[in-house]
Amino acid sequence: MNRVMIIGAGQMGSGIAQVCAMSGYEVILHDLKQEFVDQGITNISKNLTRQVNKGKLTEQEKAAILSRLSPSIDLQNAISVDLVIEAAVENMEIKASLFAELDKITPFHTILASNTSSLPITEIAAATKRPGKVIGMHFMNPVPVMKLVEIIRGLATEDEVYRTIEKMAVSLKKVPVEVNDFPGFVSNRILMPMINEAIYTLYEGVASKEAIDDVMKLGMNHPMGPLTLADFIGLDTCLSIMETLHNGFGDDKYRPCPLLRKYVKAGWLGKKSGRGFYEYS
Ligand code: CAA
Repeated sequence: MNRVMIIGAGQMGSGIAQVCAMSGYEVILHDLKQEFVDQGITNISKNLTRQVNKGKLTEQEKAAILSRLSPSIDLQNAISVDLVIEAAVENMEIKASLFAELDKITPFHTILASNTSSLPITEIAAATKRPGKVIGMHFMNPVPVMKLVEIIRGLATEDEVYRTIEKMAVSLKKVPVEVNDFPGFVSNRILMPMINEAIYTLYEGVASKEAIDDVMKLGMNHPMGPLTLADFIGLDTCLSIMETLHNGFGDDKYRPCPLLRKYVKAGWLGKKSGRGFYEYS
């Protein structure tokens, strides 16, 4: 496996592109508009410059990594890749239509992976004629820092495809963990109800946002409190994952907190919009 296309140049997609290029893969970074791709490459370049300034990377290494990245706004460029990792918006209709298109464009050996944080891999795979070659490859944010890649087997995912992706994750210096295809997989089935409960705790006036975050940081040694983490992930993403859990299991324990819905309706999406539980300049 040499050539990889990453779809989506946002926070997750650009992070995935960065770690792939750092591990020697030729990477095509694709998005709908040139400005989105340019922004993604600028972010990667800034991250690499930080590493150069810390003495963890040389200027030559940085240049070599950047030279392995090519921009794309034409999905037909997927014709030359061995692996696609999709990190577009969390919307089943959009993902299904993207995978159906990729199925037509890419050679039959190409593996189609999704970085979805909770949507069913089996349903995404059903939009293609190669469900055996569709798999979940769920990276954590910030991708260059976090060790985990949750690898999700859809109902039809072939063993050979699983092994190839597991090896690929190790080549990125990540630790792959195998999980089956159930709502929220393992990471978000456990993380999101905790975040949702923290929001209920605020909603019910049990404590201030700072106090809730301090309890979890200082009492449980979490690197970030749950409300800060929710802002970091994006409140729209948190809500969409809670809805996937609620619909998928039909259990009221996954009901999204009304305060979370209110913030999303207000456009308070967390760090990316400048305001969530906290304000960001
Ligand atoms: N991109 C790249 N590198 C970053 C970064 C970013 N956005 N943010 C921080 N870093 C790097 C820093 O450069 C620094 O690198 P060095 O060790 O090489 O110097 C290192 O991370 C530590 O950063 P800081 O010292 O600035 O800050 P910190 O020690 O507070 O760590 C953190 C920052 C790694 C984000 C830490 O707060 C943390 O681990 N937070 C929790 C993150 C988490 O839970 N992520 C999972 C979210 S859930 C998810 O992603 C899945 C989903 O589906 C929703």
